[in-house]
Amino acid sequence: MDMLSCDLDRTNEIPLYEQLYLYIKREIIEGRLHYQTKLPSKRKLADFLEISQNTVEAAYEQLTSEGYLEVLPRKGYFVMASEDLEYVGKLDVPIKTDNVKNESFRYHFHPSIIDTAGFPFQQWRKYAKNVMDERNSDLLLLGEPQGEFELRTEIADYLYHARGVKCSPEQIVLGAGIEILLQQLVLLWDAKTKYGVEDPGYHLIPRIMKTYGRDLYPLQVDNSGVKVSEIARAGIDVVYVTPSRHFPYGTILSVNRRNKLLNWAAEADGRYIIEDDYDSEYRYSGKSIPSLQSMDQKGKVIYMGSFSKSLMPSIRISYMVLPHQLMERFRSELSFNNSSVSRMDQHILAQFMRHGDFGKHLNRMRKIYRRKLEKITEMLKHYADKIQVIGENSGLHIVLVVQNGLDETLLVKKAETANIRVYPLSQYTFEKKYEGPPQIILGFAGIPEEDLDDAITSLMKSWGI
Ligand SMILES: Cc1ncc(COP(=O)(O)O)c(C=O)c1O
Repeated sequence: MDMLSCDLDRTNEIPLYEQLYLYIKREIIEGRLHYQTKLPSKRKLADFLEISQNTVEAAYEQLTSEGYLEVLPRKGYFVMASEDLEYVGKLDVPIKTDNVKNESFRYHFHPSIIDTAGFPFQQWRKYAKNVMDERNSDLLLLGEPQGEFELRTEIADYLYHARGVKCSPEQIVLGAGIEILLQQLVLLWDAKTKYGVEDPGYHLIPRIMKTYGRDLYPLQVDNSGVKVSEIARAGIDVVYVTPSRHFPYGTILSVNRRNKLLNWAAEADGRYIIEDDYDSEYRYSGKSIPSLQSMDQKGKVIYMGSFSKSLMPSIRISYMVLPHQLMERFRSELSFNNSSVSRMDQHILAQFMRHGDFGKHLNRMRKIYRRKLEKITEMLKHYADKIQVIGENSGLHIVLVVQNGLDETLLVKKAETANIRVYPLSQYTFEKKYEGPPQIILGFAGIPEEDLDDAITSLMKSWGI
């Protein structure tokens, strides 16, 4: 072969030799450089590409050591790899990801984004410094599988005072996300266990259950929360609910339904309720809604909570409170799992809570989010003929019912052309579709207060409203 016309980018942070190596490797894998083809000499290729011979040599050597090339004395470098390598090519295919949360948009309304400007870096740094100390060198070793006792103690105390949850630190299991904890929980029950999930609801729950091959039943939701009467009819064993603030509609499960749910669970062994209390910290009017766990007399509720909204989603610290019977099973069957959360982070958070900074942070953030929510709902009143707002009393997102003739896909697309990202309700439904006018989920927490005006006006404009 005469030459290799490889486009090298001198501004790229990938070194030139590596760019050349990657280029030749791809040519071989994708079949454009055939078995036994002789490559240009180092000198010729270096001249042609205007790079040093050392750079070419480094690329050739790497390919030779990986078996893509062979060097024959006084003859040069030859392609060694044959068609058998075809499968390797698949590794170079970029892997698609649905992690759109970090894409950059002018305004990003993802419901899991928080207000990062309100984070108390100074206090956090103080506790981080305390923890990162030689005197704490034991923290470099593995901790307790359920999580650090110090943090579990703080959480038990917080849950009792804030949510009426009655538990001891021994009943708490910490994990890097509610999803991780749920996966452990699922393993505690028989594979034949049937699960009821809210529809619409938190979409990751059915996804996890499906991954584990579990039997699922979608439960309808109305203005009083999840329809409890369906549960008994459907032969469900374990039900997942968001009673204090349904996700995504923000409705509160009525007291009648709470009682029915607890009675249903108490009627048979093996029945449980998973209570996901993901953002109960953010109620802006009235008293906080008591947790279901606080009403449970029979050890039927598994309470789950998270610091993802109250602090930051990246900390990956969530918890579940197991009733005694399940806790024993967890200890005997799953204690081989080491904690999925860094011990250092757990101790920083424990100190942050113990010294009262968590409470102060929540009070401050509640005010910030309340102001944002008030501003948004006030603005949306101007569009009341086309837009109806659901869930405007609490939480970090609202749902918009949009009646301007556009369907859900178009609403998302039109917003995107204005560089705004919004999320369709269908993404959170069981069959990924629903009847009725289009609905859009608007997580407002991450939009700076001073930008809300422009964000909403631009969104409405993109929808032609
Ligand atoms: C309904 C619901 N549950 C739980 C969570 C939190 O999950 P994690 O603790 O894994 O961040 C979220 C986060 O957005 C949520 O919307």
